[in-house]
Amino acid sequence: MNIKQTLEDISRLSNPRVLVIGDLILDEYIEGEIQRISREAPVPIVEEQRRHYLPGGAANTLANLASLGARASAIGVVGNDESGRQLIQLLNKSGINTDGVMIAKEVPTTTKTRISAQSRQSVMQQVLRLDRLPKPNSLSHTTLNSLESALAEQIAQADVVLVSDYGNGVVVPQTIQAVQKLAADKIWVVDSQEDLRLFKGASLLTPNKPEAEQNLGYRIETAEDLQRAGATLLSESGAKALLITRGDEGMSLFETGGAYHEVPALNRTEVFDVTGAGDTVVATLAVALGSGCSLPTSMELANLAASIVVRRLGCATTHPDEMRETLLEMQKKELI
Ligand SMILES: Nc1ncnc2c1ncn2[C@@H]1O[C@H](COP(=O)(O)OP(=O)(O)OP(=O)(O)O)[C@@H](O)[C@H]1O
Ligand SMILES: [Mg+2]
Repeated sequence: MNIKQTLEDISRLSNPRVLVIGDLILDEYIEGEIQRISREAPVPIVEEQRRHYLPGGAANTLANLASLGARASAIGVVGNDESGRQLIQLLNKSGINTDGVMIAKEVPTTTKTRISAQSRQSVMQQVLRLDRLPKPNSLSHTTLNSLESALAEQIAQADVVLVSDYGNGVVVPQTIQAVQKLAADKIWVVDSQEDLRLFKGASLLTPNKPEAEQNLGYRIETAEDLQRAGATLLSESGAKALLITRGDEGMSLFETGGAYHEVPALNRTEVFDVTGAGDTVVATLAVALGSGCSLPTSMELANLAASIVVRRLGCATTHPDEMRETLLEMQKKELI
């Protein structure tokens, strides 16, 4: 990695307009203390002491975009419930435009609640995770049509469109086709946990390794597997480029025409929590591409940003100043 060049690339990051369509999730954290076991069932009773909320899924991608300096707008769905209001408030607090967030009465706001507790002599640990999810295909025609109208209204003003698909119902053929049509001559980036073959024409797909394997039907174990995987996914999806994030093994970029680039993971010793690292990756890619950086440069910057957020608990964000400082620090410690 060329430090001087990367510092220059960081300073090129501007404030592109990034429109995100995807599955907005609320992450809820409840912490408390356990002093006794229930008499109703052999379970601990957690006495709640703190509760806080963080954006998850596409909402975490949006939070990352805002933190990186993008002018971010959201298109998605929340339920008509307290979680939905919390989520919209969180997004607005980060300066994210939520005009395209529909309140749909047919679904709950996707909410993932972590209940953690400690007893007098133990450390805090997670006791239970409680998910509130929409049923498959439960969005009404009216809601899907509203999402499509929001896309028609907002894509024209965006520099980059980002599809953040957690499989919760917003990213379906109707909305994908609208993006394909309206963003045909824009940069559009897809982070999807589902079938990558739906996103023909995308500028970039960013599956992690398990998602790539799921799409292919085989495990990526050797360097040859990886090359074969890249070529197959590129041709079968019809996307222009593909970036496979490989956890602590780094990232691989495949471009149509055969160009291949890879970067090693920058930080493998201070990893604390990799949750949401993929959201940071795709948000950084969107900001870098929207600032005019090339794909390989955008990958370098995304890799640097990811190495920062994996040091933090839960979904986390970073910003260009911190990326610069981290780079200088790594240089000082001779880590790069
Ligand atoms: N254990 C690790 N050590 C170092 N870096 C890591 C580690 N895990 C993830 N990263 C960094 O984060 C990037 C994205 O991670 P990963 O491939 O796990 O994405 P993901 O599974 O999509 O994440 P998400 O939880 O957001 O879905 C990696 O390419 C790497 O830069
Ligand atoms: Mg991911």
